[in-house]
Amino acid sequence: MLYVILKNHDYKYEVAELVKLFTQNFEFTDEKNFAMVLENTLLTHNNHLISTTRYFTNYEMRFEERQSIDTTNLSEQEIKKLTKEMIKRTLYKVLKKVFNTYVPWGILTGIRPIKIVHTLLDLGYDDEQIKETLRKNYYIADEKIELSLEIAKRERVFVYPVDKDKISLYVSIPFCPTICYYCSFPANPLKVYGNLRDEYVEKLIEEIKGVKDLIKNKEIETLYIGGGTPTALCENNLDKVISALFDELDLSKIKEFTVEAGRPDTITKEKLEVLKKHNVTRISINPQSMNDITLEKIGRSHSVKEIIDCFNMARSMGFDNINMDIILGLVDEDLEMVENTLKEIEKLNPESLTVHTLAVKRASSLKENIDDYEFTRYEEMVKMIDLSMKYARKMNLKPYYLYRQKHMLGNLENIGYAKEGYECIYNIQIMEEKQSNYAIGAGSISKFVYLDEDRIERVDNVKNVEQYINRVDEMIEKKRKEIEKNAN
Ligand SMILES: C[S@@+](CC[C@H](N)C(=O)[O-])C[C@H]1O[C@@H](n2cnc3c(N)ncnc32)[C@H](O)[C@@H]1O
Ligand code: SF4
Repeated sequence: MLYVILKNHDYKYEVAELVKLFTQNFEFTDEKNFAMVLENTLLTHNNHLISTTRYFTNYEMRFEERQSIDTTNLSEQEIKKLTKEMIKRTLYKVLKKVFNTYVPWGILTGIRPIKIVHTLLDLGYDDEQIKETLRKNYYIADEKIELSLEIAKRERVFVYPVDKDKISLYVSIPFCPTICYYCSFPANPLKVYGNLRDEYVEKLIEEIKGVKDLIKNKEIETLYIGGGTPTALCENNLDKVISALFDELDLSKIKEFTVEAGRPDTITKEKLEVLKKHNVTRISINPQSMNDITLEKIGRSHSVKEIIDCFNMARSMGFDNINMDIILGLVDEDLEMVENTLKEIEKLNPESLTVHTLAVKRASSLKENIDDYEFTRYEEMVKMIDLSMKYARKMNLKPYYLYRQKHMLGNLENIGYAKEGYECIYNIQIMEEKQSNYAIGAGSISKFVYLDEDRIERVDNVKNVEQYINRVDEMIEKKRKEIEKNAN
């Protein structure tokens, strides 16, 4: 156990997030009376703030790092930001010596590292200045710097110029055939909640009608139906929801319409015909793994063959923009099994591939059974990420968005790859947060972006389907209030 002492400051949250990159096994304390102690002290001297981090084993100091910042002419907000970064840097340097772990994102603990690159590009920095800043201020590894810059540049075409009158629209269908053991998304198993689908669709249509007025002056740029698994609805209900969207809202300018078909065990020819009829431009057929034994272990009631058959059926029906999601680090999967997944996907040749690294979410059954679960070793995860990138590039898929999640194995990253011209604009806008996202349905979270004030407000819908059905008016009202509050 590592004991952490903070002196003259209380940036506990930031320190904890940083220490977690190296070890989960730590505690804050006030005494030095332990075998492993990490101490950070903040001092002021002549307009300078000085951060010193020391590491002791049994009272004996092993490592020390000190940095300072000149606070002259800085605003309070700037001082706070720079102080936190400086504290994290000295901690990082010491912890790196103690644990010798590969921490490629340096002191960055947030989930949107590409945002920093956009901010630097906005400030007019050139490539070299950006690389230098990422290296010096954040200690990001060179390979992640190159990746971040490549992604930011690819995203900019879609994000800029920003237009506050354009929005994206998300529709949540929170039903799934069975619940995957790692999942914490709004997903209700059909066996228990399937009988609520008709009523859910009625209420969802009420919410569509309710937000019509709220977005009448906005241009909907992208439409995304996700979940859960939208194709867990029958074709009639799917048709009803999509028809209501087109009847009630002005979708004449949408650049992209995605439906996460997701699980192959919910996809039928009839459902795909409904999607085709409504001109859905992009669908997802998600394997997660192309190994039957893993699919069974993670609680997905479908086989690899079903994935391949579904994919081929969608292709033969004219779907020319298909995404596939996979997860690295799934139970008992080694590099060879991941390679098998990638080889199978290569044969199918999708237009985009999203590679996730397993995150242990609080609300998942994986978290409950964490002690029984043997984690894929960190080094192996790094190799899996490298391998997936190699295969992606071979398939002509280039990285176009990236995010990290809390509680992710090894604190690595999720990367979306796509062929040129097949980038999902919705995903990019969600990541970079320069555009508001209106979200309807159970468990969805709307995000109102106020660029002038550098502020984002979230308005969440209830996750529970029964609650949603009973309280849909309240969900509409919550959004109305947020919009009106900011209109005055
Ligand atoms: C909201 S889910 C919906 C997709 C669809 N229902 C399916 O499972 O095929 C989107 C994607 O997030 C990824 N995902 C979900 N839970 C995850 C976790 N705990 N760790 C890593 N990736 C996860 C999966 O790859 C999944 O396809
Ligand atoms: S991963 Fe997809 S199918 Fe599995 S429970 Fe989550 S939302 Fe449902």
